[in-house]
Amino acid sequence: MKKLIPRLIAVLSFMACTAIQGQSLTGVPARQSGNLFLSNELKQIQQEINTSPLSIWIDRGIALWQDKSSGNSCEGCHGSVENLKNAAATHPKLSPDGSRLENLEDRIAFYLKLSRGKSYNVESDEVLALSAAIHSAADGVPIQIEQDPFFPEEWNSMLAKGAALYTTRQGRMNLSCTNCHDQNIGKNLRSEVISPGNPTSFPIYRMTWQKLGSIDRRLRACYFGIQAKVPDMGSQELRTLELFLMNRAQGLPIDGPSLRR
Ligand code: HEC
Ligand code: HEC
Repeated sequence: MKKLIPRLIAVLSFMACTAIQGQSLTGVPARQSGNLFLSNELKQIQQEINTSPLSIWIDRGIALWQDKSSGNSCEGCHGSVENLKNAAATHPKLSPDGSRLENLEDRIAFYLKLSRGKSYNVESDEVLALSAAIHSAADGVPIQIEQDPFFPEEWNSMLAKGAALYTTRQGRMNLSCTNCHDQNIGKNLRSEVISPGNPTSFPIYRMTWQKLGSIDRRLRACYFGIQAKVPDMGSQELRTLELFLMNRAQGLPIDGPSLRR
């Protein structure tokens, strides 16, 4: 690790000097799922769905979906989990009063509390398992982000905030998201291949986490990687970035949950 850090700084400062705003330096297309950037070994584990750790999480999510032990089950109101597949492709959305963005995990946590009378945070196993089940039902559904019909100005301003965050250099490495996920797609960084950073494949089971994680956890890891101040889980900063990423990935099919290194 000690040896890695100076090396990483050298790689990154090279990237920072050569990157030109808004222009792909590698020519690798940005409209691709991160699943296409997996090693062959991970691709194979992912395809063997019955033995991959993902299937355990999806099954757990379906069991929770049907669980009637506290009176109300998700299934009781919604029917099959398939009925919610569009929700995975259309969030984050504005809250009913237009004041904040809510993503799929926020909505799941809200309804878990309503059905069970107990709070769950967005990275809890229950919320992640339900998110995995809903995303799995949404396999192949194209991302479809739409401006809020009641609060168009608020929605535009949140999208603009997300775009600004995406292109602002920050942290000790002085890098922005676009420096990696537009300008260095396909390059190796610390034994990972930089993907376009599309949000199609969440939640992700990272081998290094030994656990499923949401887009919040992944984005926080990117902030940490460039030694920037890491936003809180569930914060509006992460939600505006997610809105920007989903809007940028408009039309790409959902292909989560998935494995990552
Ligand atoms: C120093 C380069 C770097 C910067 C800057 C960076 N990331 Fe990442 N990011 C990575 C690497 C490496 C990965 C893991 C491999 C991959 O999927 O790209 C990753 C993964 C991701 C993923 C998951 C993609 C997938 O399919 O699993 C998303 C989404 C993402 N980053 C978004 C962002 C956002 C938003 C920012 C700005 C706040 C950001 N990243 C800044 C390097 C970076
Ligand atoms: C008492 C009935 C009821 C129960 C129980 C219930 N829901 Fe819902 N749910 C609704 C209604 C009504 C809506 C539509 C209004 C809204 O978006 O909040 C909804 C909306 C949602 C949405 C957003 C859908 C979209 O397309 O925007 C998600 C996600 C969701 N529910 C997940 C769940 C989960 C997960 C559970 C179980 C933990 C659950 N719900 C339990 C009634 C229920």
